[in-house]
Amino acid sequence: LAKETPMIRKAALLIARNSWFRKAILGLPVLRDLAGRFVGGKDLASGLATVRGLNARGLKGSLNFHGMHAESIAEAQTAIDQAIDALQAIGADRLDAHVSVKLTKIGFDLDPALAEAGLRRILDCAARTGGFVRLDMEEAVYVEDTLRMFEAMLSQYGPERVGIVIQSYLRHRRQDLDRLMALGASIRLVKGGYREARDVVLHRRVEIDTAFHEDIERLLRQGHAPAIATHDAEAVAWTKTVQKRLGLGQDAFEFQMLLGVKPDLQARLREEGYAVRCYVPYGGDWATHLVGCLRRLPMDLLGAARPHRTK
Ligand code: FDA
Repeated sequence: LAKETPMIRKAALLIARNSWFRKAILGLPVLRDLAGRFVGGKDLASGLATVRGLNARGLKGSLNFHGMHAESIAEAQTAIDQAIDALQAIGADRLDAHVSVKLTKIGFDLDPALAEAGLRRILDCAARTGGFVRLDMEEAVYVEDTLRMFEAMLSQYGPERVGIVIQSYLRHRRQDLDRLMALGASIRLVKGGYREARDVVLHRRVEIDTAFHEDIERLLRQGHAPAIATHDAEAVAWTKTVQKRLGLGQDAFEFQMLLGVKPDLQARLREEGYAVRCYVPYGGDWATHLVGCLRRLPMDLLGAARPHRTK
């Protein structure tokens, strides 16, 4: 999810957009297998097939037409149509899945009014099909606009149709969390995945982890159907400890993880009776997502924690 450095993004986009190059690269069995592990596929049909596979294993899905910062109105319209098609297919096939949307992918940088109209079309479809849409949170400069847009949508469509994300690394996230919990918003809590200036975000790993633990506890105490999105085994253990201490049922919240990341942890939590939802990126700039996951894979295999990136 995180924004990659320009060089990595360029390499990933080259792979994603150049069909000859993509075929050559993905012809390598090892890369094809890894793409299949972390990416839902090149189009909606493959994303839906991935969700069906997850559902068969008791896992929920959240489909995301991957990418951010649409560069043309046509690209933004495609992302809007993709979200609508995904909601329709989820409703028709009765899949256990949501849709995740990024404001900049549906054109917020190009024309905020277009993005707002697009989001309303998406949420109208969610209302018709009984679906749910999560607005992903992007770089810090978009946070306030995203929260305002979300609040407008929440008042019209309600917390059963639209949810938001809070990033614990943001220095001002406590106020945002209070503001949203007071509205009964459905919140996905994450540590935060972007390269940001140090006056905007906490930058030491220990500070971010402490903030994340604090926010998990506040959300479990007062949240409305919260989602704890992390692959961090300590944060998962902390969530379970707080849940038990507060006497909450396992259905009071859900865990969320990226497709293919820590699959053993996902399966174990499911076996223990927790709800687990996998974020399934498909289509769009899927190669950027794959590169992001591959960069973290060696560290995971070595069991090393990756330092948090700040400017
Ligand atoms: P941490 O970074 O400590 O990682 C824990 C372990 O998981 C490490 O071993 C690490 O290597 C491994 N790991 C983590 N991410 C991995 C990856 N991509 N590939 C391979 N291994 C990985 N952020 C944001 O700013 N806005 C958003 O809307 C969202 N939405 C979102 C949805 C979902 C479902 C998830 C899981 C995450 C997000 N994020 C996000 C990203 C989030 O902010 C954060 O950057 C990552 O989840 C990594 O943080 P962890 O909590 O996993 O801990």
